[in-house]
Amino acid sequence: MKPVKVGLLGLGTVGTGVVRIVEGHQEDLQNQAGSPIHVEKILVQNKAKARSLTIDESKLTEDPWDIIADPEIDVIVEVMGGVEHTRTYLLEAIARGKSIVTANKDLMALHGPEILEAAKNNGCDVLYEASVAGGIPIIRTLIEGFSSDRIIKIMGIVNGTTNYILTKMSQEGASYDDVLKEAQQLGYAEADPTSDVEGLDAARKMTILSTLGFRTNVALDDVSVQGISSVSKEDILYAKRLGYEVKLLGIAECQDDQISVSVQPTMVKQSHPIASVNGVFNAVYVHGEAVGETMFYGAGAGELPTATSVVSDLVAVIKNKKLGVAGRQGAMVYKEKKLKTDDQ
Ligand code: NAP
Ligand code: HSE
Repeated sequence: MKPVKVGLLGLGTVGTGVVRIVEGHQEDLQNQAGSPIHVEKILVQNKAKARSLTIDESKLTEDPWDIIADPEIDVIVEVMGGVEHTRTYLLEAIARGKSIVTANKDLMALHGPEILEAAKNNGCDVLYEASVAGGIPIIRTLIEGFSSDRIIKIMGIVNGTTNYILTKMSQEGASYDDVLKEAQQLGYAEADPTSDVEGLDAARKMTILSTLGFRTNVALDDVSVQGISSVSKEDILYAKRLGYEVKLLGIAECQDDQISVSVQPTMVKQSHPIASVNGVFNAVYVHGEAVGETMFYGAGAGELPTATSVVSDLVAVIKNKKLGVAGRQGAMVYKEKKLKTDDQ
């Protein structure tokens, strides 16, 4: 059986998990995808860097065009991060008929509509489940699971690093700086952790979720953002004494075609289920007019949970390719809705 050849851009936390799952679950993946899946070439910044897994060095390259311009590569899995150069690589790959799986929320929040449009025009898939809430399959749930409903609210903890920090500060009285370092060592934080602690990472994820949930075009600039860098240990302990936990919440609402999206540290009553979402775990509430309240919970970052979403998307891309359909990306924008202003 002819294998599907994958070009992997990035072999850091998530890329390593992708290789481990593709190799470790090969037989099962092959049964589902209908072909063996081979990670053929891997883009890294530094080939000489020590890696936590054994890898055939001949697969590594520092030249992205080795992969993007290779006609033998069927699918690109992008887990390197970055925006402008990554956008260029992915648009070039799409122009050459390659489908994409990406974990890159920065890219999808800023250039999602352009990339999805390019994919649609070229009959390719772009799947990006891992870009929001790590191992929780929330994107396909919003696109497929709730296609019959009208979503009115999406709320939750969508950044694992800040939830890890707030949990350790609340439960162990740990210092912000020490826990941030720990989150970096565990592979939860972004390359520049400012985007985690200042709420930008969560804002990017809320841009993606609200665009999909409300079926409209939400821009990153539409999201009001406040992070956790000014939250002190004292604030957290004081809130606790009053019966609250401090959580970095993303809240997106849509009423009468008017939307509001925000990210901010919020005092959550200890009796509320979201108050007991701890550590790197994320939780997303989706409230639909017909379905009512639903909640999704799981690891929001880290090697294997995130790679699970990536590899599941990879299997979906391969199945779509065999069926001759481009899959779930659809059109992000169905109807223009207005941003709610303060005086409304
Ligand atoms: P990472 O550990 O920093 O790994 C990045 C990888 O990409 C490294 O292998 C690096 O090469 C390579 N790379 C980066 N820039 C490159 C460039 N310009 N040219 C060639 N190679 C380059 O990052 P990560 O944590 O795996 O995250 C990757 C992506 O997944 C990001 O978009 C991130 O936001 C997203 N994501 C991460 C998580 C998570 O839990 N970490 C969860 C969900 C989504 P070297 O190895 O040689 O340095
Ligand atoms: N830095 C991100 C987080 C990775 O901590 O949630 C997962 O998207």
